[in-house]
Amino acid sequence: MNDFAGKTVLVTGGSRGIGRACVLEFARRGAVVALTYYPGNEAEAQEVGQLVGANASIWPLDVVDTKACTQLVEEVVKKHERLDVLVNNAGIAIDGLVMRFRDEDWDAVLDTNLRGAFALCRAATRPMLRQRSGAIVNLASVVGEMGNAGQTAYSASKAGLIGLTKSLARELASRSIRVNAVAPGFIDTEMTAKLPAETKEKMVASIALGRLGKVEDIARAVVFLAGEGASYITGEVLKVNGGMYM
Ligand code: NAI
Repeated sequence: MNDFAGKTVLVTGGSRGIGRACVLEFARRGAVVALTYYPGNEAEAQEVGQLVGANASIWPLDVVDTKACTQLVEEVVKKHERLDVLVNNAGIAIDGLVMRFRDEDWDAVLDTNLRGAFALCRAATRPMLRQRSGAIVNLASVVGEMGNAGQTAYSASKAGLIGLTKSLARELASRSIRVNAVAPGFIDTEMTAKLPAETKEKMVASIALGRLGKVEDIARAVVFLAGEGASYITGEVLKVNGGMYM
């Protein structure tokens, strides 16, 4: 399928996990993909770039640096001449009970997951307004919808991202720019690999489909929301959680 031929897609944190799967799925469907990697992860980003070939460009970016986010979007548009899709995938989780949670950890989670996405949305809006078309997909989380003990900062950042998604969807709808979110459940990535086996078993028991999600399960949902098949969908939060939360 070549439904993204002629389109430029920007994926943050595209060197591994869900971001990597999104890069590969967009590329498979004909898009030119600009992928960003956290400074230090260049080797894994290069590997993804090689899999995509000539249709990939690779950029270092720390999304906490809002000026760098603006500059990155400008440079991507300069290189590829347009920006059709932005996927705000870069994110971190720092867990802990509120009583002992440190200010700096709260700031790191909110600055990465929420402020970074805001800065990139703001920057991407400019070329998309010029084109009078575009799609933004934000990676939220099931815990942004249902909450989770020990994940107050992470849940707050993802709930914030859902609010951002819905407000921006209203702001940009008249210019044919759609803004949606995917809320993954528990997905088998480095983020969840760190969890103890017992926690994982409990998680799986709470999932109706009886397994953790795969990165490809999420990538397909992201690509769907970014594409023509979702042309009448905006401000939506698509649950991709195996029936863990309905
Ligand atoms: P991951 O840890 O494998 O990948 C996250 C990516 O973000 C990495 O490439 C990392 O380098 C990048 N990143 C982190 N901080 C950054 C920064 N300051 N600037 C730029 N890039 C940065 O995680 P995974 O699982 O692939 O997660 C991707 C997204 O999906 C995240 O937003 C995460 O919160 C969300 N998500 C993941 C779930 C899971 O079960 N794995 C569940 C729900 C949501």
